[in-house]
Amino acid sequence: MKKNKLKILITEEKIIKQVSYLAKRISKDYRRKGKLLIVGILKGSMIFLSDLVRQLEIDCEIDFISIRSYDGKNSSGVVQLILDLYDNPVGKNILIVEDIVDTGRTLKFLKENLLTRKAKSVKICVLLNKIGRRKTNIKIDYKGFDVPNKFIVGYGLDYKEKYRNLPYIASID
Ligand code: IMP
Ligand code: MG
Repeated sequence: MKKNKLKILITEEKIIKQVSYLAKRISKDYRRKGKLLIVGILKGSMIFLSDLVRQLEIDCEIDFISIRSYDGKNSSGVVQLILDLYDNPVGKNILIVEDIVDTGRTLKFLKENLLTRKAKSVKICVLLNKIGRRKTNIKIDYKGFDVPNKFIVGYGLDYKEKYRNLPYIASID
């Protein structure tokens, strides 16, 4: 059986520092905005989100949503809602927390969906940005790191449901 080779791109130490920096910026920006609802996209964002919220200096509520993006051989790309929010987004300041932005279709779909459902504001926080892959013009408000156009695993991100529990971020061949 072929073993996948991992190459560490971002160490645990660097991740911790960057998450703390993002949490500081978010806390500052939302301090006077009123109630904040953090929406994590399952399952990839769970580890990033749990580290991030513990560094926030403001109150927040937390909810999750599950989205599947079918990107049939990189052509059209259909995005589907698998599990909806528990909370009602009406009137809420929402911060979407996502593991990685690739084409941007998932985040574009979710942001538009939440705004249609009358969220007061919707911003986006991603840990990783795959450079040169965007197919939509979606604004990323808070970004952790740029990563090369490789398949990325660890710190929540999986390859066939494996490697989510790695404490670092790696590329896989
Ligand atoms: P987008 O809709 O093309 O931006 O894709 C974003 C989604 O695809 C993310 O939520 C991830 O679940 C998944 N994804 C994209 N690139 C990677 C990767 O390199 N490793 C793991 N998951 C990825
Ligand atoms: Mg995902």
